[in-house]
Amino acid sequence: MMNIVFLGPPGAGKGTQAKVVCEKLGIPQISTGDMLRSAIANQTETGMKAKTFMDAGQLVPDEVVIALVRERLAQPDCKAGYILDGFPRTVEQAQALQSFAAINAAIDLDVADEVLIKRLSGRRVCPLCGAPYHVDRLNGEKNCKVDGTLLIQRDDDKPETVQNRLAVYHEKTAPLIDFYTQAGLLHSIGGNLTLEEISAAILKVLEAKA
Ligand code: AP5
Repeated sequence: MMNIVFLGPPGAGKGTQAKVVCEKLGIPQISTGDMLRSAIANQTETGMKAKTFMDAGQLVPDEVVIALVRERLAQPDCKAGYILDGFPRTVEQAQALQSFAAINAAIDLDVADEVLIKRLSGRRVCPLCGAPYHVDRLNGEKNCKVDGTLLIQRDDDKPETVQNRLAVYHEKTAPLIDFYTQAGLLHSIGGNLTLEEISAAILKVLEAKA
């Protein structure tokens, strides 16, 4: 059983890699970003609380996200392990997580800001299954390869919001690299390699820990 955290700035490839690794290991991908977007689409109370923060590129308050993750990890499909994609994002979230989950590894995808800006501005996502794509690799294709849904650009991938998200990452989330280093759980991987090279590097780290 492996309980894994994926760290890294916006656009580092957490969602892309989490999908590949989860499929390989047969464990669920738990993306707080996807859960919050789905709460907004369903107009739930959590979604209404989260929307203003997300649209501005700010973090949703800790107590909202912690409650969401705690409830999700109690589901039976998490018993065999999971990947947390985008949680924790503050030291407070990481401390809360320690109180209700035993994390085996934290994988940090390390990518420079200028590369992230290019990736996010060209990103298109499937609004149904969340699969991420990049316009440079779509060859004009406009629909999701998994379910055929028309791809969209996320509201928070607009240039001004991307700058805010990066600033918030450096201030609030980057300190988690020290947090998980001190816990002896951190594995940093250069996220600037190809998709396949990164997947292989992550799987190698996880195999060595199994
Ligand atoms: P969330 O949805 O988690 O967004 P994020 O962390 O900003 O991460 P992204 O989804 O933008 O990027 P990613 O690392 O998954 O990259 P991807 O694989 O898509 O969160 C959105 C918002 O929700 C937050 O701003 C916040 O408001 C709120 N929120 C969520 N969690 C929260 C929490 N815990 N606490 C508080 N608030 C929270 O890849 C990006 C692009 O690059 C794609 O086009 C992809 O095809 C391409 N790409 C990926 N890898 C490579 C590669 N190796 N080479 C070339 N291109 C690549």
